[in-house]
Amino acid sequence: MTARASVPLDKILQSQGFGSRKGCRALVEGGYVEIGGSAATDYSLPYETGGLAFSVNGEPWQYREKLYLALNKPVGIECSRKPSHHPSVLTLFPGQFAERGLQPVGRLDHDTTGLLLLSDDGAFIHAQSSPKRHVPKLYRATTARPVTPSLIESLLSGVMLVDEPEPLRAVSCEALDEFMLEIVLEQGKYHQVKRMLAAAGNHCAALSRVAIGRLRLEDLGLAPGAWTYLDEGRLSMLAPA
Ligand code: URA
Repeated sequence: MTARASVPLDKILQSQGFGSRKGCRALVEGGYVEIGGSAATDYSLPYETGGLAFSVNGEPWQYREKLYLALNKPVGIECSRKPSHHPSVLTLFPGQFAERGLQPVGRLDHDTTGLLLLSDDGAFIHAQSSPKRHVPKLYRATTARPVTPSLIESLLSGVMLVDEPEPLRAVSCEALDEFMLEIVLEQGKYHQVKRMLAAAGNHCAALSRVAIGRLRLEDLGLAPGAWTYLDEGRLSMLAPA
């Protein structure tokens, strides 16, 4: 998703999260920015942004028009930009990403782990979060009490949650062992898995999201807390079935 455009260097740096236009000019004038192995000295010089590689203070960067990221979210992290009890998910990324408006696509609870998407592309975030978009999300839940056939049956046939006009049902649900199940949801209501398990008479002791659409966390090879850029191939795996 790289646009072909010729853009002045100070504007490029600003778009990539290196601060104000004035601050970016100072970075260039201070000799902190290198392109093609030599210091860039003219901040007004236009560069082709597609595929542009540069370094700032010795750190290499690749120009990206928009950010599309996948994180293996660890426990003890809040998805809010202004967290109340735990560090924000944005602390797991370079500061430049927050500067350019990176935010999570939907939320996972502070104690939920697993696949979380983040982007600074408002249209992408909006489209992915739309209730009309039926992208299956696969969760693995550890339960406090044994998983029974009647629990599975209730989750599949639908449970009533407070403030929801209609029962919410799982697209699929199966026991992995006595205290673990996999559940697929197409909605993303607040605490949905935990509330559905409680409404069905059990309790969620631990929760992890293992896939969104056809994008599976295990295929990304990310340790807890690690993240990666998503290329177009992987983004296409987020399309509704
Ligand atoms: N359902 C929950 O209960 N919590 C999450 O974090 C995600 C889905």
